[in-house]
Amino acid sequence: MPSISKKGQLMPQSPIRKLVPFAEQAVKDGKSIYYLNIGQPDIKTPKTAIDAVKNSDIDVLAYSRSEGSETYRQKICKYYSKHYINVTHNDIVVTTGGSEALLFAFGSVMDVDDEIIIPEPFYANYNGFSIASGVKVVPVISKIEDNFALPPIEEFEKLITPKTKAILICNPGNPTGYLYSKEEIQKLAAIVKKYDLFLISDEVYREFVYDNHTHYSIMQENGLENHAIVVDSVSKRYSMCGARVGCLVSKNKTVIDTVLKFAQARLSPPTLAQIASEAALETPQSYFDDVVKEYVERRNTLVTELQKIEGIKVAKPKGAFYCIAELPIKNSDNFAKWLLENFDIDGKTIMVAPAAGFYSTPGVGLNQIRIAYVLKKESLIKAVNILKEALKVYKD
Ligand SMILES: Cc1ncc(COP(=O)(O)O)c(C=O)c1O
Repeated sequence: MPSISKKGQLMPQSPIRKLVPFAEQAVKDGKSIYYLNIGQPDIKTPKTAIDAVKNSDIDVLAYSRSEGSETYRQKICKYYSKHYINVTHNDIVVTTGGSEALLFAFGSVMDVDDEIIIPEPFYANYNGFSIASGVKVVPVISKIEDNFALPPIEEFEKLITPKTKAILICNPGNPTGYLYSKEEIQKLAAIVKKYDLFLISDEVYREFVYDNHTHYSIMQENGLENHAIVVDSVSKRYSMCGARVGCLVSKNKTVIDTVLKFAQARLSPPTLAQIASEAALETPQSYFDDVVKEYVERRNTLVTELQKIEGIKVAKPKGAFYCIAELPIKNSDNFAKWLLENFDIDGKTIMVAPAAGFYSTPGVGLNQIRIAYVLKKESLIKAVNILKEALKVYKD
């Protein structure tokens, strides 16, 4: 048999999806599952977005421009201006989800063997995108004890080598729920300017910010025009994960011109989904106010219930809809499988994401899980109760 590429062999399985066969078996065995493993919100997609697709009068479902439809990009600029981000439609390339924006960013600013510094734990697919691009992830560890705050800036400086090309942050963070302060962004801005690096910020959870905090984007920071690249998406903002629309934003014209070449190679982002995404921009602020209120209640419920369990450590998220919990166990991979295969209360069990896959440092995060609070409060309470009872009987 012809051999598989080294890259292909190194490509990690998604820690979020790899337990799916175990979950399918559990369902076949008659169990029902509370899915805490995946960031698929149960919030309704705005009706305006769905209606725009239903009412679209299209004879030929054609390609769009590689950089995305101009009217859509112009409307995205208006959206950004409400968030104090001043860009023109020429600073934006529409992509097939934030995922493609990340791939294009990696491809445009890094060569094989270049290094990217990322505070870990981080969104697990950053590992996959790095391997696909031949890039080395250099992690800087943020700790549950510090609520996953930005590690001291000296820790970043220690890791910078001639191969370092970029720093990547996720703000607010998946899987930590951490929200970077303006001061933290300014520290990062100073370091990327000092060492002439790119600062890539994944801001797909921009709206999901709690407790009267405000989101400070790297695009708001003066003097970062040549360094800042923002990755964005409609997936979580409008509960439109299946639309597969995102975008990459940068004031650096060379970056945009390069990204556009990658975009041309894949021809165009999805046409129907751009129609939905453009209409979604009409969504009133009240939609987000309601969604944020709902997530705050869910977060509070989840954290309060988790804190009642002996031996659990949990960092209170300030944004997004995930939290990392440290459990009194040795290996959360085994525990997560065991929950699906061997444990239930009245036929119900839970599916969680083992957190080791959110780290690139081997052996770190083995006793942690990521919980997505994308379920209603009542379900979260029942799910945490299952976790509590499971921990009483589980043997590593
Ligand atoms: C932090 C983060 N970035 C990017 C993505 C990619 O999302 P999409 O490709 O659906 O826009 C996700 C999806 O969960 C995410 O959590």
